[in-house]
Amino acid sequence: MPPPGPLLPSTLRSFLRCGLMLDAWMAGLAEESISFASQTLLAEVASSLADAHWREPLITGMLGPLPGARSVGRRAALEVLTCSAAAVAHERLGRIAVDTEAAAEAVRRLSDFVDQQGFGTLVRVVLAITSAGSQAALAHYGEILEEDFLSGCLHRPWSISPLDDDLWLGIAAGHYRLQVRGAHRYVRGTAEGRRALLETRSLLAAAGYLAARLDLTWVSHFNVRADLDGDVSRVAPDGPAQRADITRFCRVAPGAAVLDVGCGQGTQLFEGGLGEAAGPTGRLVGLDPAEGMLARARRKALLRGTGNVEFVCGRAEALPFADRRFDLALAVGALQFARSGQAVAEMIRVVRPGGAVVVIGVGQGAFAAPAVQEWFRPLLELARRHGIDPAGRSQVYEHLGTVLGMAGLTDVQTVSAPARLLLTDPEVVVRMVVQGSDFGLEVLERVPWAARQELIAELLVRGRLFCATARADQHTVAVRTQFGRGAVP
Ligand SMILES: C[S@@+](CC[C@H](N)C(=O)[O-])C[C@H]1O[C@@H](n2cnc3c(N)ncnc32)[C@H](O)[C@@H]1O
Repeated sequence: MPPPGPLLPSTLRSFLRCGLMLDAWMAGLAEESISFASQTLLAEVASSLADAHWREPLITGMLGPLPGARSVGRRAALEVLTCSAAAVAHERLGRIAVDTEAAAEAVRRLSDFVDQQGFGTLVRVVLAITSAGSQAALAHYGEILEEDFLSGCLHRPWSISPLDDDLWLGIAAGHYRLQVRGAHRYVRGTAEGRRALLETRSLLAAAGYLAARLDLTWVSHFNVRADLDGDVSRVAPDGPAQRADITRFCRVAPGAAVLDVGCGQGTQLFEGGLGEAAGPTGRLVGLDPAEGMLARARRKALLRGTGNVEFVCGRAEALPFADRRFDLALAVGALQFARSGQAVAEMIRVVRPGGAVVVIGVGQGAFAAPAVQEWFRPLLELARRHGIDPAGRSQVYEHLGTVLGMAGLTDVQTVSAPARLLLTDPEVVVRMVVQGSDFGLEVLERVPWAARQELIAELLVRGRLFCATARADQHTVAVRTQFGRGAVP
């Protein structure tokens, strides 16, 4: 087990720059949707890289005289290739269907990294990340039956072979120990292992790796979200009226050039009437990092015959547009997923002087409601244990006037409007929290694979019980929609 110290943030940054990813969530999903030809290609590349490099001094220095260095190398390469191919599929297709093109792109990215940093460095990165995952699993469960640890059924079910090397290496590094009780042996984390976990996590955070992984997790979940509009309509009875309010708040003139940042399925442009307000001579652009969302938005445009709209893949923090190109830049329920300061600065950059920037926060205060707190108690407790504030990312909406003013906008105006959240459909509410909120995925990402599935199942059971037993008035929760606008000087 390599000590995390020698693994430098610059190495991790180069891993990210090459477009590589190692994400437990992605690995688990990719496993189900990777074509046979892609699987074969990735396995062959991983084997040939490991065969060519396993005697490198960095690898033998790290693994000592262990006999399995070649298989450690093969597993490391294959896990990175599989996750990165899944990330490529999300970037390009907006869904997790790894075809041979995505697989070939992952191979190209991995080869770039190996050319720049060496194969030994790749193995070091993978061991640091995966051992942090194993240590987090041990910290979560306290101990894991040896057979379960080796099969990875709780924390790495996608693993291609038993995790003997992980166990060996962890014991050799003093991060785990085996405890015999009766007929069974258990793997337990040690104090040294917990210290190493903290050190590795702070290293991963410093290099921007955790943030990049969370971004990808959000995008991948929005990609596979087949019917966001339908879900929203079942939990937000005021949705259509508030969409109309948002359009009025934007004060769009006919012929305006409008940018909807984090546009999702284009709901504000189409159903919300923003496109109509800009009229047939207006120019509409929707931007979102989730290709799956954009595909659904493009389908809507086609069905409606809207010719003056374009959908572009991109992120709020780096808008792919020239300065001063729009009359209005708007973001509805999207900035909590972005670095909001950077996003607002970018929105200001692309709007002409005298134009407007509008930011809307929806469903504010949901996690403070007693009914939601009761239903989602296991998730909220987990969040507290990991120091994650459910309202943390939504702070941008609580202080919208200050945020917009400090960013340099003038004539800043904010409105806080009441809205309702309906807690009547457990499947939809849990999906909204688990797949569609910034907070849910950030918390779930902290727990091992199996615990994640169990927690989601538990939230569903609690939700069904709540919906079956709560009084009618408890099914409606009061939340707020925050409106903010400012003029570009
Ligand atoms: C809750 S949905 C809101 C969609 C849409 N604005 C609406 O009103 O229905 C949030 C959207 O933000 C997008 N998103 C996530 N990260 C983003 C980022 N960094 N920049 C821009 N959009 C982002 C997601 O892909 C998703 O489509």
